[in-house]
Amino acid sequence: MSKIQVKKAVIPAAGLGTRFLPATKAIAKEILPIIDKPAIQFIVEEALDAGIEDILIITGKGKQEIEDHFDANFTLEQNLKAKGKDKLLRLATETSNLNIHYTRQDHPRGLGDAVRHAKAFNGNDPFLLLLGDDIIRGENLSKQIIDLYAEKEQTVIAGVRVDPNKTKNYGILDIQETANPHVFQVVDMIEKPQNHAPSNMAAAGRYILEPAIFKILDELEAGPTGEVELTDALIQLQKTQPLLAFEYQGEWFEVGDAKGMLQASIIFALDHPEVKDEFVPYLKKLAEKFADV
Ligand code: UTP
Repeated sequence: MSKIQVKKAVIPAAGLGTRFLPATKAIAKEILPIIDKPAIQFIVEEALDAGIEDILIITGKGKQEIEDHFDANFTLEQNLKAKGKDKLLRLATETSNLNIHYTRQDHPRGLGDAVRHAKAFNGNDPFLLLLGDDIIRGENLSKQIIDLYAEKEQTVIAGVRVDPNKTKNYGILDIQETANPHVFQVVDMIEKPQNHAPSNMAAAGRYILEPAIFKILDELEAGPTGEVELTDALIQLQKTQPLLAFEYQGEWFEVGDAKGMLQASIIFALDHPEVKDEFVPYLKKLAEKFADV
C-alpha cells in the first residue's frame, strides 16, 4: 500500500494580533520580522522544505501585506537590477512565484473558524496546519509529522514539553505513552489549565488534519469568547478516532507577543551570517555587564 504524503498546507493568518499592539494596529503581525525576515516567511519555508506543494494562507482585513510579500515587486526589482545588487535582488525575488493561494475569513471568529475556510482547498486530502505564532529552530517539525502521518494515517498534533509551572499558559495535551518514545495517544486537550495540568506537553502549532475535521467545525458552536476553537473540534474528533501527539525535540518560540519575538530574534541572530559576527561579542558584553542581576 502506498503511503500518503501530505502535499497541502494551511496557514491561518487572520487573527487580530492584539497581544502585539501597538505594532499590529497598522501592520499584520505575520509581517513583523525576526531580524530581517517576516515571521510568516519562516513558516512558508518550513512547509516548502517539508515537501509541501501548495499553501493556502487564510487572511482577513488589514492583511494585504502578506500577499504583497509573496508577490513580485517590479519597481524594487528594476531598481536593484539597475544597480547590480544581485544578492539583494535574490532576496527580493525568492518569495515570489511560490504556489501560495489565499482566502479571506470575513470576521476573526477564531482559529477553528479560520481552518473551516480551508475546506474547498483541501477537498478529500489530509493537510498540514501551521500556526504563524509558532516558530521552530532545529529539525523540520512539519516534515517529522508528515512522515508520522504517512506511517500511521491518523491526525497528528505536535507538542513540546514546557516548564510544569507554566502549563496554565498553554493548550495542554493529556497523553498516554506508545511504543515510540516520541509518539503518544492524545486522550484529551485542556486549554490553559488553571489547576491541575494532565501533562506538561503543550500544543506547538503544527498539526496534520484530515477532512473529517471540517464536518465537526461546521457544527461547532462558538465558545464563551465568541470564537470557534480548534481545540474543541479536536476533542470531539478524539471521541471517534485516535489522535496522535508527536513530541518535538527542537526549540520552539511563540512570536505572537513582544517577549517571544525578542527571544526568537536573539537566538536567530546567532545563526544569521550578516549579523552574528558583531552580535555575539555584543551579547557576551551584555552578559558580563548583567552577570549579577
Ligand atoms: P491567536 O489567538 O494566537 O492569534 O490565533 P490572534 O487572535 O491574532 O492573537 P491575539 O490573541 O489577538 O494576540 C492563532 C492563529 O490563528 C489565527 C491567527 O492569525 C494565528 O495565526 N487566527 C486566529 C485566525 O486566522 N483567525 C481568527 O479568527 C483567530
